Amino acid sequence: MSPPPDALAPTAEAQAKLKPETGLKTIHVKSWGCQMNVYDGQKMVDLLAPLGYRPVDEAEGADIVILNTCHIREKATEKLFSELGRLKIAKQAKAEAGGDMILAVAGCVAQAEGPVITARARHVDIVVGPQSYQSLPELVARASRAKGEPILMTDFPVESKFDSLPEEAAPRGVSAFLTIQEGCDKFCSFCVVPYTRGAEYSRPPGDVLIEARRLALSGVRELTLLGQNVNAYHGKAADGTVWSLGRLIRAVAEIPGVERIRYSTSHPDDMDDELISAHADVPALMPFMHLPVQSGSDRILARMNRKHTAAQYLAVIERLRAARPDIALSSDFIVGYPGETETDFAATLELVRTVGFAQAYSFKYSPRPGTPASTADDAVPEAVKSYRLAQLQAAILEGQTRFNQASVGQVVPILFDRSGSRPGQLHGRSPHMQSVHTPAPGHLLGQIVPVRIADARALSLEGTLEIETPFGGIAP
Ligand code: 5AD
Ligand code: SF4
Repeated sequence: MSPPPDALAPTAEAQAKLKPETGLKTIHVKSWGCQMNVYDGQKMVDLLAPLGYRPVDEAEGADIVILNTCHIREKATEKLFSELGRLKIAKQAKAEAGGDMILAVAGCVAQAEGPVITARARHVDIVVGPQSYQSLPELVARASRAKGEPILMTDFPVESKFDSLPEEAAPRGVSAFLTIQEGCDKFCSFCVVPYTRGAEYSRPPGDVLIEARRLALSGVRELTLLGQNVNAYHGKAADGTVWSLGRLIRAVAEIPGVERIRYSTSHPDDMDDELISAHADVPALMPFMHLPVQSGSDRILARMNRKHTAAQYLAVIERLRAARPDIALSSDFIVGYPGETETDFAATLELVRTVGFAQAYSFKYSPRPGTPASTADDAVPEAVKSYRLAQLQAAILEGQTRFNQASVGQVVPILFDRSGSRPGQLHGRSPHMQSVHTPAPGHLLGQIVPVRIADARALSLEGTLEIETPFGGIAP
């Protein structure tokens, strides 16, 4: 049965006129990859909000679709083109219904493969790199006028980008990302980041603090400071002084409402004393650290141009643990780097067991076009990579399970950040980044609440509230 006609409903013509002012136009942003891409994706929505676009969950039917891509590992380009194939149909369907969809490709694949994208996917309207997306309002206006001609913008004005990014158009929730640093000068031999995101750049501390205060005022309790090489942060303040990450963290911790601070991703070489001492005496700085090592073999680390040995990595962890004994560690590993032998790989397994990571990510090496490692002639066979990856993941899982099981019976402060997967449950994070599901009333969202951990699986924990209810006794 069709719905009854609504005399008050605007006509299609009136709706079209209203669109820019009322936000009836829609935008869908799909972000792949790292946390910085999530931050960029949110900023793209902020940039287009003043033009009347509101975010929607589905690409089908949206007025603008942005694919915010990641180029760090294999199949990035294939994934993009398969998504573009699906969107071609959605775009045609919209056109047949008399509408129009502007399709944009953003992120690191756009930066690295811009001309390939415009040549292979003629239905793409805009290709825009990570350092140029502040121009989206202008690019969208141009794309609406010049139908059919793809626009390619992959410049590198990283400084002006941050100056041109708008305030948040909508609250970010309980836990938010804040980009403080971008690009990387480390040039690890396997990595595309220095080429797609450009040279290291640190935002001025004053700008970071303004954004952090705004986020805290909007209800954010936990801030994750982001950078490709975040602990290389060296932001120049208005008075000419250069702030390290440690100093910035101390200032962020002073902001009312900021109860938890995290930062990601760090390089072992850039762990300076100021940052380590912040772990000792800034209570809001969470005892969890993502510190990629990539390999446990010095020979492979040297070939990777990592600029540290396994022993130097372990020494950094010792310094961190001396400052904050309960600190939990996370890492990234690459298996099957060119020339990696069984002995090299055994050293990686040994390092995993020595450190006892709370969690870790592991990847098969994939040659990235344009990187020094991509031309190596001693590639490890795919089957060997797969076998090593399975072994490494088993060792990581063992450590992670042990770490999670040690939480059982403990009362842990949990920041509830969203609804849980089951009704009546909330999801939250422990200081150590563990995912915790707890039966809890919705009004506790955004609060840090003591939870007794009842059960531990490899990837998440189950708990019960340990707080007094207004009626006495323990809730719920
Ligand atoms: N192959 C496999 N893994 C890679 N990473 C970066 N480049 C590559 C590559 N070419 C991994 C590293 C890095 C993480 C973000 O992605 O472990 O820390
Ligand atoms: Fe890539 Fe990280 Fe190495 Fe920089 S430090 S080149 S981002 S892996």
